[in-house]
Amino acid sequence: MQKTALITGSYGGLGTCFVELHAATHGDVILVGRSKEKLEQQKQYVEKTYSVSAHIISVDLSTEDAAQFIFDTCKLNGWSVDYLINNAGFGGQGDFARERTMEDDLSMIAVNIATPTRLCKLFLPEFIKRGSGKVLNVSSTAAVMPGPLQAVYYATKSYLTSFSNALWRELKGTGVTVTALMPGAMETGFAKTGGLTEMKLFANAVSPMMPKKAMMDFVYSQQLAGSAKK
Ligand SMILES: NC(=O)c1ccc[n+]([C@@H]2O[C@H](COP(=O)([O-])OP(=O)(O)OC[C@H]3O[C@@H](n4cnc5c(N)ncnc54)[C@H](OP(=O)(O)O)[C@@H]3O)[C@@H](O)[C@H]2O)c1
Repeated sequence: MQKTALITGSYGGLGTCFVELHAATHGDVILVGRSKEKLEQQKQYVEKTYSVSAHIISVDLSTEDAAQFIFDTCKLNGWSVDYLINNAGFGGQGDFARERTMEDDLSMIAVNIATPTRLCKLFLPEFIKRGSGKVLNVSSTAAVMPGPLQAVYYATKSYLTSFSNALWRELKGTGVTVTALMPGAMETGFAKTGGLTEMKLFANAVSPMMPKKAMMDFVYSQQLAGSAKK
């Protein structure tokens, strides 16, 4: 039977890739995001291109009841979720104490930490009962280092990686897995949204849809460049 993937931030850069990759396996998708219009457009595109079913849930993931709303909407409509992809997230820069507002940082914590945690809390018991299911939490390479001037963003990704690793261990033997994806700089809407376009890091950003061979060539050339500098 084909699997259904619920993908948050579905029309963003990485989200679009997850949607396309999953739909290409003939799997159905539940598209989650803020803009109903963008979700409607994506639904039409996915259904037409891949002949799969696409459902949409329009919700602001920074709100406290977003996860419960998503879970209840799935239940109400009889949409069974096999894969939960906690992809939506955003960054932003500025001095923590002197520049960034309380709202800036707390809404980031809500989208990057609280809602993914709530979604895991709601969906995992069902996955365990069924003996199958997968969670993919989109973390970042930012998870493994502190990020001055992006203190909260880096910390949110540390949380997500640590959380995922711990859940993976707790779920051993249940048939359910939790994975953290830790990408580096990618060409998506992320840098623009977070006001990070001028950062050196994004000069080498790669396309998340980069073909495999090009990706390998890139990694290889980066490694050679790295060893040549030593
Ligand atoms: N791009 C990178 O360099 C990079 C590197 C490492 C990790 N990541 C992670 O990858 C994930 C995907 O980001 P991306 O690179 O694909 O960036 P993106 O193109 O900006 O996509 C982010 C998605 O999240 C959604 N989103 C943000 N806040 C939301 C909210 N309050 N409610 C509902 N949806 C919301 C956005 O929708 P709206 O457009 O409606 O806001 C958008 O669809 C994020 O978790 C990010 O931290 C990105």
